[in-house]
Amino acid sequence: MCGIVGVLGGHEVAPLLVESLKRLEYRGYDSAGIATVNKGRLDRRRAVGKLANLSDLLVHEPLAGKSGIGHTRWATHGAATVVNAHPHRSGPVAVVHNGIIENFRELRAELSDAGLACETETDTEVVALMVRMHMDRGLAPREAARETLRRLEGAFALLFLFEGEEDLMIAARKGSPLAIGHGEGEMFVGSDAIALAPMTDRITYLEEGDYAFITRQGAEIFDTEDRRANRETSRIQLDQTRIEKAGYKHFMAKEIAEQPVVIADALKHYCREGRIGLPIALDFTTLDRLTLVACGTANYACQTAKYWFESLAALPCEVDIASEFRYREPPLPANSFALFVSQSGETADTLAALRYARERVAKTVAVINVPTSSIAREADVALPILAGVEVGVASTKAFTCQLVVLYLLALKAAVDRGRMGADDLSERLGELAGLPGLMNQTMAREGEIATIAGAVAEAQDVLFLGRGAMFPLALEGALKLKEISYIHAEGYASGELKHGPIALIDKSVPVVVLAPHDALFDKTVSNMQEVMARHGKVVLMTDAKGTAEARDGTWKCVTLPSVAPALAPILYALPAQLLAYHAAVAKGTDVDQPRNLAKSVTVE
Ligand code: AGP
Repeated sequence: MCGIVGVLGGHEVAPLLVESLKRLEYRGYDSAGIATVNKGRLDRRRAVGKLANLSDLLVHEPLAGKSGIGHTRWATHGAATVVNAHPHRSGPVAVVHNGIIENFRELRAELSDAGLACETETDTEVVALMVRMHMDRGLAPREAARETLRRLEGAFALLFLFEGEEDLMIAARKGSPLAIGHGEGEMFVGSDAIALAPMTDRITYLEEGDYAFITRQGAEIFDTEDRRANRETSRIQLDQTRIEKAGYKHFMAKEIAEQPVVIADALKHYCREGRIGLPIALDFTTLDRLTLVACGTANYACQTAKYWFESLAALPCEVDIASEFRYREPPLPANSFALFVSQSGETADTLAALRYARERVAKTVAVINVPTSSIAREADVALPILAGVEVGVASTKAFTCQLVVLYLLALKAAVDRGRMGADDLSERLGELAGLPGLMNQTMAREGEIATIAGAVAEAQDVLFLGRGAMFPLALEGALKLKEISYIHAEGYASGELKHGPIALIDKSVPVVVLAPHDALFDKTVSNMQEVMARHGKVVLMTDAKGTAEARDGTWKCVTLPSVAPALAPILYALPAQLLAYHAAVAKGTDVDQPRNLAKSVTVE
């Protein structure tokens, strides 16, 4: 939810901190700040809003020093103000934090009794005050930090900097990711490897409960029992961390356009000579059930996959929203797999659900875009979706790559369970091989979709309808539109409209109908007629056959390439994404960093 970074450098660190924070802005951008130690003196600069505001401030009020920490914030406790901006400071200590200190009220009361009052609305401030209190009582920075960490409950990635300590940073990780970067006589810390890529490709990931004393000579890492811990240092593939717009106006536009290529990459990785190259550890043959858990867009990918697993493999599936999953205490059959889908691999709700399921099912499987993420590392099996770095807060290429991997899993399950022979499998893999080409053809409709989006952008409310495996895409299309254009939008199973939501229909309401000409097309057309009978403005997205049969009376109609029915949810994601993107552009919202959002939600 927030991004943190720290540098013990050989040169002035302020510009480096800002460059790293730029790479972390996808995690939140309500405010930003840095602190440095220069000639022993600890000082900080903070600004509300985008990182550019902090950069401007640093032009007028530069901050010297070769040791520093930085933070870009997604507000959890306390409004987006300068006072609430990180780094937080108390006396000789400054701290930046990603996560939530769940017992901050209890600690705040204890500090008040000790004569240390909070000045901000944040939970993080109590961390600085606790360390300060211990230092006032004579503890040195390392011991003061260690004592404080023992008292904290909740999820946190923390970085401390101390007055008079030019060669010390203290890092701690519990629930939120934190990486240590190794330079030549320099050391770095960041929320992820992307932030550290400009400085180093040698990365050590702290594990759950670790803390570290870091100097320019290296990092001393300790585990939850205060024992020295050796954590693996690996070299990250720097090209994976390259984030450029490559000439597009927005990252989202680039990532939408990349889908044919990255889907081809995913297919190349998993499909060879007519076979599916998935870990043999994933044997679905006798499985009783599959549980799929995720948030947001990833959850809609799971809801889509349910149709495939059940219709192709006759494998019963349950799909849960991660934040609800463990609180309903679901009975999980021992002879089942639990599958967790997450682009970032750091979503706190999904990670917590994985930890709940881990002891209860035969195998946990992660379908992730970041192979080094917490969810990837804690699952029994991790399946990369190979979408490449996704910077736009609204997920696009990750969604379709998730769907491709989930579809391949469903095909494997069908083969394992004797419901699909070699010929049928070969035919379906052939259909998949043609998907990138169909996506390229669909991209060619962008101009037409952009024009429709300009009209849709004037609406207050928009509905999305889909039947069968297209229903979850209706939910996803609505989420895309609302999260980047701020237009209220809802997705419905098209057969459900007449059970209440149809009351919303009038001539001001566009209704996007996602309807390939499949076995359910006629029923969907009936629902569409019900909408048009009430002057609703139907935007029909279908194929040539559907256009010929049903375009009359619609407000707009987009004709897409014909596609195998099972793959329609993947192909039709493209026009839904393009509609949302161009509606947001028409409204002038911040497409890549929509208000109130963050790319990776690492708090519950
Ligand atoms: C996607 O457009 C949204 N920004 C959001 O719903 C996202 O899908 C969700 O937060 C899950 O993120 P994850 O895939 O990284 O776990």
